Amino acid sequence: MFGLWKTWKALEARGIMGINRRNADYVLKYNKRSLYPIVDDKIITKERAIAAGIHVPELYGVISTEKEIDNLDEIIGGRNDFVVKPAQGAGGDGILVIADRFEGRYRTVSGKIISHEEIEHQISSILTGLYSLGGHRDRALIEYRVTPDQIFKSISYEGVPDIRIIVLMGYPVMAMLRLPTRQSGGKANLHQGAIGVGVDLATGLTLRGTWLNNIITKHPDTTNAVDGVQLPYWDGFMKLAAGCYELCGLGYIGVDMVLDQEKGPLILELNARPGLNIQIANDCGLTLRTHAVEARLEALKARGISETVEERVEFVQEMFGHIPGVEG
Ligand SMILES: Nc1ncnc2c1ncn2[C@@H]1O[C@H](COP(=O)(O)OP(=O)(O)O)[C@@H](O)[C@H]1O
Ligand SMILES: [Mg+2]
Repeated sequence: MFGLWKTWKALEARGIMGINRRNADYVLKYNKRSLYPIVDDKIITKERAIAAGIHVPELYGVISTEKEIDNLDEIIGGRNDFVVKPAQGAGGDGILVIADRFEGRYRTVSGKIISHEEIEHQISSILTGLYSLGGHRDRALIEYRVTPDQIFKSISYEGVPDIRIIVLMGYPVMAMLRLPTRQSGGKANLHQGAIGVGVDLATGLTLRGTWLNNIITKHPDTTNAVDGVQLPYWDGFMKLAAGCYELCGLGYIGVDMVLDQEKGPLILELNARPGLNIQIANDCGLTLRTHAVEARLEALKARGISETVEERVEFVQEMFGHIPGVEG
């Protein structure tokens, strides 16, 4: 293991994107303000995805007022597992992943036993805006709990790993697999303590990992190698992510996807300000890739054409895939 700061310095020479450049040259430039609600509110994202024929975890119900908390039992409807989430939350905060029932109570995915009242209290906090961007009133959504595909058994601890792909104007530019750890409480968010692992765009093979400011090759809880793992349905994930541009209209987004054991690939959420740590997990700067895509767009514009999802995926896989040292 060695320090993240040193790595960041070394990456500077390789087109690393810092927060100021991301905001000025990408978020502000490509993301129209009026479109933000589509990605900032998970209920709206879900509606859009369903309308576009893209699969998402099923929505069991929405609670918008204190009074509606009385409907919780009816919404859960006898199910043993479900997820409670703030519609406008971020970073995994405020999310309750219920895996089972236990003697009149519930068991979270990390093994904590909680009462019905505690869930109600959590929902009440969500409504007051405790977890929402900007702290204004929010809604709570109750949805299907994703069960990760078996492939992730050896490399994740509890919870659901997710696949994050950064997409510029419909072109996937960088990908990362995020693995929950004991520390992250079943959530795949990096600042909750999850691991980020780079992914080769062409093959879907995992590269190295980054965890709590260190470079790692093994999962701290399972001790299995996190690199060299072949992700299934890789081209499917690439196309799913690329198609999210048409779904939301935002030009610079992070697309979060999961692989459910029964339902297959699902979109979990979209982010208008995707984080920058993905560069460390990929040992590669984002600007090298975003500039290549911008040049491509210029060239296509001059010829008066645009590319389909398939063509865009093919372009980036050819251009950015097959990272040296990776078979493919
Ligand atoms: N329906 C679900 N089933 C199981 N785990 C989930 C579900 N929704 C979210 N999670 C877990 O919580 C994490 C954060 O969820 P997400 O919807 O991306 O919200 P946030 O905006 O807070 O990141 C996910 O990466 C995943 O690990
Ligand atoms: Mg997320």
